[in-house]
Amino acid sequence: MQQKIIILDFGSQTTQLIGRRIREMDTFCEILPYNKFPKDDNNIIGVILSGSPYSVYDKDAFRVDFSQFIGKYPVLGICYGAQLMAYCYGGKVEPAGSREYGRAHLKQFEADNPLFKGFEPDSQVWMSHGDTITQLPEGFHAIASTEQVYNAAYANPEQRIWAVQYHPEVHHSLQGFQLLKNFVVDICGSRQEWSAASFVETTVKELREQLGNDRVILGLSGGVDSSVCATLLNRAIGDRLTCIFVDHGMLRKNEFNKVMEAYKGIGLNVIGVDASQKFFSDLEGATDPEAKRKIIGRDFIEVFDAEARKIKDAKWLAQGTIYPDRIESLNITGKVIKSHHNVGGLPEEMHLKLCEPLKWLFKDEVRRVGRQLGMPERLVNRHPFPGPGLAVRILGEVTPEKVRVLQDADDIYIEALHNYVCEDGIALYDKVWQAGTVLLSPVKSVGVMGDERTYENPVALRAVTSMDAMTADWAHLPYDFLAKVSNDIINKVKGVNRVCYDISSKPPSTIEWE
Ligand code: XMP
Repeated sequence: MQQKIIILDFGSQTTQLIGRRIREMDTFCEILPYNKFPKDDNNIIGVILSGSPYSVYDKDAFRVDFSQFIGKYPVLGICYGAQLMAYCYGGKVEPAGSREYGRAHLKQFEADNPLFKGFEPDSQVWMSHGDTITQLPEGFHAIASTEQVYNAAYANPEQRIWAVQYHPEVHHSLQGFQLLKNFVVDICGSRQEWSAASFVETTVKELREQLGNDRVILGLSGGVDSSVCATLLNRAIGDRLTCIFVDHGMLRKNEFNKVMEAYKGIGLNVIGVDASQKFFSDLEGATDPEAKRKIIGRDFIEVFDAEARKIKDAKWLAQGTIYPDRIESLNITGKVIKSHHNVGGLPEEMHLKLCEPLKWLFKDEVRRVGRQLGMPERLVNRHPFPGPGLAVRILGEVTPEKVRVLQDADDIYIEALHNYVCEDGIALYDKVWQAGTVLLSPVKSVGVMGDERTYENPVALRAVTSMDAMTADWAHLPYDFLAKVSNDIINKVKGVNRVCYDISSKPPSTIEWE
């Protein structure tokens, strides 16, 4: 039996973080919309109710039928989850005098309450709510307060309910991880058996059962997700997996050959297709970012489809879809933050069934699985790279010459990130979520090289830190590093005479420029 914690999502920005924290304690969890509590699942060991942008007394506030889980499993309410339980069981929730946001310090009343095992006095917590519980229902009692909030945490031991009005999942709640672990491990009894090794073992077994002797097709992009997906399938069904890797001509410098070699080293059955001519000719004259994306998406499907049809008896299409892709599409507040970028556009008449073995994993877990499968570190640690490739990093029209210029500049930058090892022994490349170079081809500026006047394009370097690409901050790269990269690019790359560093976060900017 694979134990699991259910997290009911009431729409908070940090619900995913709760899930990540629980996985970090080697426990499987599922994030589900607040109204989709699973019926007849014998593997559940506990339930967490997330925060929400709503107030419990809003007309449209999300409500839930507590009888599905209260009394059956231990329950932890977080923020709105805490307020909702208090409100629905007859307590009082009211607007706080002033919005409670930011740091606070927790005073626990019950030193032996299992939720606070290992807690230090005055533990720092992070508050973010406009309402507050002013009165608890019968059978419930406060177990901790902060300066401003009396019922900062409460419990109902008989019903096995615990709740906190702050956010233990965020880093600013210094013992938040400890609190979640106390709940998941001590209260719910997690055996902490969810690991990369156990995932590989169970998934390989399941894939063999699911796929039998069928043949599977998979589109490789050179990125981590599709590569790990392919390696996992290869472990399960060997040569009955055929991978197709399309070169659209806008990959990084020498990337197609390097990645093909890495794939062959792993033992994957890969067909490499050089379709760059088609992409470049179809992109001629296209300058609008969305138009460029559409052309590339359409061409990609055409090329992939033509190759896939040659594999006559294929029954499945495998994809490296990962958990955050799917959680975003469940986003209950209805706001699309990022559209899903996977290919998956093969014509329906091919009747391929979909196989997505990584669909439960977060990005860092995909990397751990890759390592567990013995994949090369350089492949496992690769930064995300957009499907349309350098086309969305060349502003305006894309030409083979511009791609060459950008590839050269980008190669210098990325290699320098690999080679710059910080004091803690970690390369800068591994400290950032993603890095890349953008060619500002509609812009030209004057420079001087030797005695010559130049009139050429600038490039912008981009590096961001992030958890999941939904939000990102620009990385504070060391000045000496930036100075050297700028110097190398301007001296070595013909066509570039200026280097800028992009200091915009997401939001309001995005990671890619187009
Ligand atoms: P933005 O620019 O939206 O990017 O902040 C968020 C993340 O998604 C990647 N990205 C893409 N990935 N196909 C992909 O497979 C695409 O069309 C695409 N566009 C953006 C981007 O590199 C970043 O990691």
